[in-house]
Amino acid sequence: MSKQPQKDKNFVPSRRSFLQGGLTAAGGAAVAAIGGGAALAAGTPDPAITELKDWNQYSGPGVDAAPYGVPSPFEAHVVRRDVPWLTADPISSINFTPLHELDGIITPNGLCFERHHSGVAEVDPAEHRLMINGLVDKPLVFTMQDLMRFPRENRVYFLECAANSGMEWRGAQLNGCQFTHGMLHNVMYTGVRLRTLLEEAGVKPSGKWILAEGADASGMGRSIPIEKALDDCLVAFKMNGEALRPEQGYPVRLCVPGWEGNMWVKWLRRIEVGDKPWQLREETSKYTDLMPDGRARRFTWAMDVKSVITNPSPQAPITHGRGHTIITGVAWSGHGKIKRVDVSIDGGRNWQHARIDGPSLSRSLHRFYYEFNWDGSPLYLQSRAIDEQGYVQPTKDALRAARGDNSIYHNNGIQTWYLKSNGEAENVEVS
Ligand code: MTE
Ligand code: CO
Repeated sequence: MSKQPQKDKNFVPSRRSFLQGGLTAAGGAAVAAIGGGAALAAGTPDPAITELKDWNQYSGPGVDAAPYGVPSPFEAHVVRRDVPWLTADPISSINFTPLHELDGIITPNGLCFERHHSGVAEVDPAEHRLMINGLVDKPLVFTMQDLMRFPRENRVYFLECAANSGMEWRGAQLNGCQFTHGMLHNVMYTGVRLRTLLEEAGVKPSGKWILAEGADASGMGRSIPIEKALDDCLVAFKMNGEALRPEQGYPVRLCVPGWEGNMWVKWLRRIEVGDKPWQLREETSKYTDLMPDGRARRFTWAMDVKSVITNPSPQAPITHGRGHTIITGVAWSGHGKIKRVDVSIDGGRNWQHARIDGPSLSRSLHRFYYEFNWDGSPLYLQSRAIDEQGYVQPTKDALRAARGDNSIYHNNGIQTWYLKSNGEAENVEVS
């Protein structure tokens, strides 16, 4: 259980740079900024100001240099990462969103984690069709152009793989929120309500379930109750304003708001209406929860209320020393909006309300901040989210008391980071 992802030297600032940060302040006449932070006093020569840089003297690339923009080379460490020992090969595998490098609530398209059962399907939109068949009055086939002629909606939703935090079920294991919580992204989708398409086909009264099926080689499929299909499901073709990325199901995917990521079928090619679930692999042997009595819970679709502190965290230590410190993270619930996030610095003994900032949308990430004056002593950092239905994020102990030790999926337990005096953070479990 003590296996860890190989450390990428790029993402952990060295101890030397940490000390340097402290020395700069001590070397000059330190000026107290906010709550004990330090800035250089006027009069101390700062090479960042006094020395000419290339960019001060020479013209840079012109507007034709990057027709499609990419991040600054100084952000090259901000990437999706995988854990090679987790799966047998990278084709049926997963990588993780670098949550500790992000702020606000939107996940940039190039950083959305990926989960494929048979690699990325490179689909030609001109040759892609979406079929609706089964218990309908009029079976239909849509081209991409057809889909774009229906009324569109824009909605921000999180997608969390049911296996997110699954490796942590029996104890702290992976050192970084990217790996413990990074099967998560939050995107503004543009698409057509599945309800609109189903109404076009006319669902027969006996139609109680739909099967959503992908065009990739795995032909991944899931059964979804008709109530959800007619409620808020979206057939989406844009993410954050631009076409879906191939990794995310280009040219079209299903969004099943608040429900486990596996149901969000990518490269969506067929919706069949039926009168009972199909009992597919992904809803029988996978994505079920083995309970203490040896029986498996099934159809546990909604992702329960959850949160995690993204900074500081093992990949994002505190490098400024004691003093004014910002703790930040994300919270989400498959049951609606987040009502409140609490933060504890003493392993859950005392809780303070965090400040939620940015849009508060149903089934979307919420960004929280908690600011305090760190005295440099070791802390046990935790966050606990409460959603608008009143669900409170449980401790891992409480989860295991209810569901035993055999589960993998649906781990929404409270995460603890042990913050050391030198600012480094470690994944631990205290409750
Ligand atoms: N759809 C198809 N067609 N094939 C797949 O392998 N993986 C599922 C789901 N939809 C998958 C799929 C799983 S398990 C998850 S968690 C999400 O897609 C991941 O979506 P993402 O790759 O956009 O993060
Ligand atoms: Co998944």
